[in-house]
Amino acid sequence: MCGIVGVVGNKSATDILMQGLEKLEYRGYDSAGIFVTGGNHDSLVKSVGRIRDLRSKLGIDVAGTAGIGHTRWATHGKPSEENAHPHTSATGRFVLVHNGVIENFKEIKANYLPADSFKGQTDTEIAVHLIGKFVEEDGLAPLDAFKKALGIIEGSYAFALMDATDATTIYVAKNKSPLLIGLGDGYNMVCSDAMAMIRETSEFMEIHDKELVVLTKGSVSVTDYDGNAISRGSYTAELDLSDIGKGTYPFYMLKEIDEQPAVMRKLIATYTNADGSMKVDSEIVKAVQEADRIYIIAAGTSYNAGFGAKQMLEALTDTPVELGVSSEWGYGMPLLSKKPFFIFLSQSGETADSRQVLVKTGELGLPSLTVTNVPGSTLSREATYTMLIGAGPEIAVASTKAYTGQIATLAFLAKAVGEADGREAAKDFDLVKELSLVAQSIEATLSEKEKIAAIVKDLLLTTRNAFYIGRKSDYFVAMEASLKLKEISYVQCEGFAAGELKHGTISLIEKDTPAIALLSDAAVAPHTRGNAMEISSRGGKVITIAMEHVANPDDDILVTNVHPHLSAIAMVIPTQLIAYETSSQRGLDVDKPRNLAKAVTVE
Ligand code: AGP
Repeated sequence: MCGIVGVVGNKSATDILMQGLEKLEYRGYDSAGIFVTGGNHDSLVKSVGRIRDLRSKLGIDVAGTAGIGHTRWATHGKPSEENAHPHTSATGRFVLVHNGVIENFKEIKANYLPADSFKGQTDTEIAVHLIGKFVEEDGLAPLDAFKKALGIIEGSYAFALMDATDATTIYVAKNKSPLLIGLGDGYNMVCSDAMAMIRETSEFMEIHDKELVVLTKGSVSVTDYDGNAISRGSYTAELDLSDIGKGTYPFYMLKEIDEQPAVMRKLIATYTNADGSMKVDSEIVKAVQEADRIYIIAAGTSYNAGFGAKQMLEALTDTPVELGVSSEWGYGMPLLSKKPFFIFLSQSGETADSRQVLVKTGELGLPSLTVTNVPGSTLSREATYTMLIGAGPEIAVASTKAYTGQIATLAFLAKAVGEADGREAAKDFDLVKELSLVAQSIEATLSEKEKIAAIVKDLLLTTRNAFYIGRKSDYFVAMEASLKLKEISYVQCEGFAAGELKHGTISLIEKDTPAIALLSDAAVAPHTRGNAMEISSRGGKVITIAMEHVANPDDDILVTNVHPHLSAIAMVIPTQLIAYETSSQRGLDVDKPRNLAKAVTVE
């Protein structure tokens, strides 16, 4: 979703802004722009399309020591140069980039601004016109005008504001949308996430909601909206530039799929002691032990990961687990149990829908845990506890290693809680051994890439729709498998409970409709095979992905055996490769599918 980068100081702003915007590309965007000042003249350059399109519009005269840049993911108004950020005030003096949604922008327009002064349709343009009006018509100083505007604006925002008459200062404020300060020697920066600045600095400072930051090359002043000074230390990000490169891989997604065995092994090292016992924060374990129900709140792939872990969590902790789609729960919680414990699953830790639920649980005083891949992210900061997945940056929009990492992280939590409760089921579950077997199983599947590519070429290259079917844990994997195929290959795909198909949806099966059956559970595999027969009898083309212990000689893809608690991790791998292959063989941009954003920071 929208990305912001800004710099003020002693370096080439154009270079820093452009490389920062390139690093933010993974978040998803449809247009981009930069404003550069502090050189011979000010430059405002915008473009629809990719950062390379923006780069091709830059002349050598776009140079200076300060500036702000933006990648836009359209919410208000179509992708166009008029709607691309940075936006300017009526006279052009103030320049603003924004991530978020200003909910009362129509009221602001009607109450404060002339109706015919706007170039585009964005909510952001109204905000910068408002600031400009307060300075140029009402005589306020820029900082006071910004503060006054912040007192009027409602909604979510990360703002970086510049005054074209002052190339030494960037004004920054945030509410709900992510924003970070990067600290340099002789320069300071602002950006949506650390990746945009890691080439320049590894020293960062958080900004919290409703804080205002005034940034110059040698100072960072943080206050609340009433002007009270806030003192905050910095932290060093453990990110490496090589972590965010794709090396020799054609796409990040393939690299990230391949990293999964290493992610499993790293999680073993993170969450076990030398003697093999669990190394999970005892406070978290105690909080879960005290709960009578676990609520997992998440979106998209993270929601599917919650289902992938549900049965294991229930089996090892003997506590019921309920799943909630964050965008639904944010607008109305169901009746909660007496002692709920909330787990927020989020790769990015920035998903606005999930945060909305977290804010509500906080208001209710309920304990919460964020399981995330991004240390210091909003959901991590605001939950009671955090468990990190530690999978390394996930750049491809399609989440892969975060899904498997989330399930594995929850396995450590489940085992630690179950053992603390003295449950035999938890003690008997040798997680270190079983997760090592999962890592091996993933490696075995990864060695089948050519076979999977051939299956895709035969069956999925031109289809418009497809099905994944499965029962129990395989049904949950089917949900994730279909999301993956949909989002990057644009094949309309449903993940279906195999037995449910005949209750209506089977009418969609036509000649050659691909249906991929997932088979990992001996108790239900024969039934799923029966459902697959029903599909092939109606002309559908069935592909089977079977775990070895339930496999038949004519199954298409085999997955080596893993413990049933962890089968979702092993079974999802071939489906990730199927999605990847379908997208790349169709010639699509695997990492940046249309219309999507990596971190969904608007509700
Ligand atoms: C999955 O491939 C998608 N990128 C998307 O569904 C994602 O999982 C969802 O937006 C939730 O993101 P989060 O894990 O960062 O909260």
